[in-house]
Amino acid sequence: MKRPIRKAVFPVAGLGTRFLPATKAIPKEMLTIVDRPVIQLAVDEAREAGIEHFIFVTGRNKGTIEDHFDKQYELEDTLRRRGKLKELEALTRELPQAGQTSFTRQQEPLGLGHAVWCARELVGNEPFALLLPDMFIHATPGCLKQMMEVYQETQSNIIAVEEVPWEDVHRYGVVAKGAQMGNAFEITGMVEKPKREAAPSNLIISGRYILQPEIFPEIAAQEPGAGGEIQLTDAMIRLMGSKPFHGLKFQGQTYDCGDKLGFLAANVASGLAHPELGAKFRQLLDGMLKG
Ligand code: UTP
Repeated sequence: MKRPIRKAVFPVAGLGTRFLPATKAIPKEMLTIVDRPVIQLAVDEAREAGIEHFIFVTGRNKGTIEDHFDKQYELEDTLRRRGKLKELEALTRELPQAGQTSFTRQQEPLGLGHAVWCARELVGNEPFALLLPDMFIHATPGCLKQMMEVYQETQSNIIAVEEVPWEDVHRYGVVAKGAQMGNAFEITGMVEKPKREAAPSNLIISGRYILQPEIFPEIAAQEPGAGGEIQLTDAMIRLMGSKPFHGLKFQGQTYDCGDKLGFLAANVASGLAHPELGAKFRQLLDGMLKG
């Protein structure tokens, strides 16, 4: 029986230490790419892929994320009275409908695996999408939508992967590539932050997953790894013993917005591609680069 992917999990409980002091009081997921918070872009991507329920795993100091997806009566009323209908529309257009969002808290930042595990009751016994919002993926169609097409064929666990230079593999989770299956391929192994010599490929796990609910008991069974954190990759490696995993080298460009350089690059790329600002921004940049 085909099981549709209706729910997406967004882990947003990380401390964002690479972005201090900005992230002292503001969640890194609320930093903006042009005029949209990073978390909004991830929700947009999920919605485009057909997701109906958005589950956020938050932590302390992350309240503004919940506010962002709520109604803002005072602001809406002021905009209405001032006749700023375009702005009002922008504010309300993408608001999830009542009951479409859930928020749960990871009380301590014990790692990505643990954050995902915190969503187990909200996900229940069905496959789900997992999006790391600070990995902004510029793609048309969106990365998750591309993955959904593979899921229609495989009904398996799916990981979005991308190629990086070999000298960078030690910073990421890396997959081993098996047989090609159309656009996707079988994943035969995974390793977290390998040395270059030990890496099975230069294809890295890039922040988008479709996972079967059997991942939850695998996370629960796990001992904390490096830095006391419960790693998602370790649980996926265990699940690979009983459930197939496929990789998709998606079409698009990833920017790690939890990293200052990645965040700057995301803003430049999105600014240049912006339908209203793009041309002027290009002129401005050209001038700056010449000057
Ligand atoms: P990161 O390692 O990028 O997040 O985790 P971080 O810990 O906030 O970043 P730095 O290294 O301190 O700057 C990847 C994703 O997993 C979430 C983060 O919010 C991010 O979306 N995460 C990580 C959690 O939700 N809980 C955790 O315990 C760790």
